[in-house]
Amino acid sequence: MSEGRVFVTRKIPAPGLEALTVAGVRVTVFQEDEERGLTREEVVAGVRGCDVLLSLLTEEIDREVLAANPGLLGVANMAVGFNNIDAAAATELGIPVSNTPGVLTDTTADLTWALLLAAARRVTEAHNYMAAGRYRLWGPNLFLGADVSPGGSGERKVLGIVGFGRIGAAVARRSIGFDMEVLAFDPYNREGIAADPVARWAELPELLARSDFVSLHPLLTEETHHLIGEEQLRSMKATAILVNASRGPVVDEATLVRALREGWIGGAALDVYEDEPAMAPGLAELPNAVLLPHIASASRDTRGKMARMAAENALCHLRRERAPNAVNSEVYETAAYRRRVAR
Ligand code: DGY
Repeated sequence: MSEGRVFVTRKIPAPGLEALTVAGVRVTVFQEDEERGLTREEVVAGVRGCDVLLSLLTEEIDREVLAANPGLLGVANMAVGFNNIDAAAATELGIPVSNTPGVLTDTTADLTWALLLAAARRVTEAHNYMAAGRYRLWGPNLFLGADVSPGGSGERKVLGIVGFGRIGAAVARRSIGFDMEVLAFDPYNREGIAADPVARWAELPELLARSDFVSLHPLLTEETHHLIGEEQLRSMKATAILVNASRGPVVDEATLVRALREGWIGGAALDVYEDEPAMAPGLAELPNAVLLPHIASASRDTRGKMARMAAENALCHLRRERAPNAVNSEVYETAAYRRRVAR
């Protein structure tokens, strides 16, 4: 049995809640309504009343939130991305922060391919046409799309992967069946690209200019904010398709709308948005955009595993043990951390 209180901001899948309750901790699930997030005040109040915070990517955990409770022992984010948390401030304050890497790699790579194929073959447009009862007669020009495999032209297509961590590499692996050439750019993983059996390194301008499909998988940082803007979009092929299942602000979304409307590129398939859940004006009306509500990791098994992993990290924070998935593991060597856990 562990003593302590874990504040779970919103209802997470059962395996996570079970892991916490079996461990005997006091769990408060603040918000059960799937469509309502927490206000900032509610997050702060929750942080004040708990020992460990189990958060989702919908809560912004900044310095002020972290500082609201001098006894806070850790933050366990149920997501691999942790751009919603000021991890640098957490380190300064002596608070370990953890994420859920690895478990969602395949599920996210699968959905990336669903996006890519849907945009290339105009699946959502064709579905909407059918659902609207507009199909009258088969036609040789109906919904002509782009090949992903060599297809009719016999030419191998080029897939450009920006951000070559676990998910980028898993997306590359899945391209083998489509006989593609794969280019990859990730200044933080040159060795990983060099060792990869499928991808080969390309600088970003080359990747953008040569790719038929560009798939984005970087972490969102100051460096990758608007990594894809006007210059980059204009440098892509007029037929290229941009896929984003990473974080919305990696793309300048208002400019992407112009690019899609004016034909600088052929299409886009997005799972994430710059100001989520809002979309840039005009995006929803574009026929050449496939739009999903941030569901890349949303399989029943994977979300269950993510919840369990977040709960296990939360329990480590609570027990003042090193969390296996701490994103700021340097925190454990700080005086601020030692002071905090000694309270
Ligand atoms: C993540 O984990 O970062 C995804 O965006 C949600 O699963």
